[in-house]
Amino acid sequence: MKEKIEEMASFFDARAKGYDQHMRENIQDFDKYYQALAKPVEGRGDKFQLLDLGCGTGLEFPYLLAAAPQALIKGMDISDEMIQEGAKAHRTFGERIQWARGSYVTDPLGKSEYEVILSSMTMHHFFISEKRKIYQKIFDAVKLGGIYIEGDYMVSSDAEVAALARYYEQVENYEGAEIGKFHLDIPFTVERQVMLLKSVGFDPVRVIYRTTTNAVLVASKPKE
Ligand SMILES: C[S@@+](CC[C@H](N)C(=O)[O-])C[C@H]1O[C@@H](n2cnc3c(N)ncnc32)[C@H](O)[C@@H]1O
Repeated sequence: MKEKIEEMASFFDARAKGYDQHMRENIQDFDKYYQALAKPVEGRGDKFQLLDLGCGTGLEFPYLLAAAPQALIKGMDISDEMIQEGAKAHRTFGERIQWARGSYVTDPLGKSEYEVILSSMTMHHFFISEKRKIYQKIFDAVKLGGIYIEGDYMVSSDAEVAALARYYEQVENYEGAEIGKFHLDIPFTVERQVMLLKSVGFDPVRVIYRTTTNAVLVASKPKE
């Protein structure tokens, strides 16, 4: 029987209330993962702009602000409910966090605007061609010498093949199934991720954390 595909924002709207608990129970080595995500900004003493794409309820914010208290975070998400839950949970951070409802697929991200762009657990929803376009936008929006940090669900090549097969099965014959609009999990291998990030100009791309299911990559935009 064909599985029902859920529209992305509604999928997360419907799960916003129990989301943090779900992640704590399901992310392998939860604390280690979020600490690794914040590691590249650790010790930064300057004020800097950090754009967090698909920030959800902002699970990563306390880790980022502990590592870099001067960071000014703009969290962007497509789900109103996730933002509302996050804004309640993190109100003590005050103006260090700004929330923006929007889509990093369809909204402009700007040109050379941010020292740091980050995404966590959100990019595994896109197929290769769509992801490459998003990475190009991110590359353009990072300042020269800046970084893009990506933490995500990344898998073995066997699991990648299985996820792709499932993806094709789900979208096949589904009227109007636009990539990035529906909630589909299409995790890739770390190697494919590195290749994709390099293909838009990031260099080097370092793997700073890796388990059997998750990884954190740091992609640098060259200084000139
Ligand atoms: C699994 S959650 C991750 C949230 C958070 N970054 C974390 O690590 O817990 C994925 C988030 O990405 C958001 N999202 C998916 N596609 C998006 C898009 N095109 N633009 C903005 N947010 C998006 C979802 O609404 C959801 O809140």
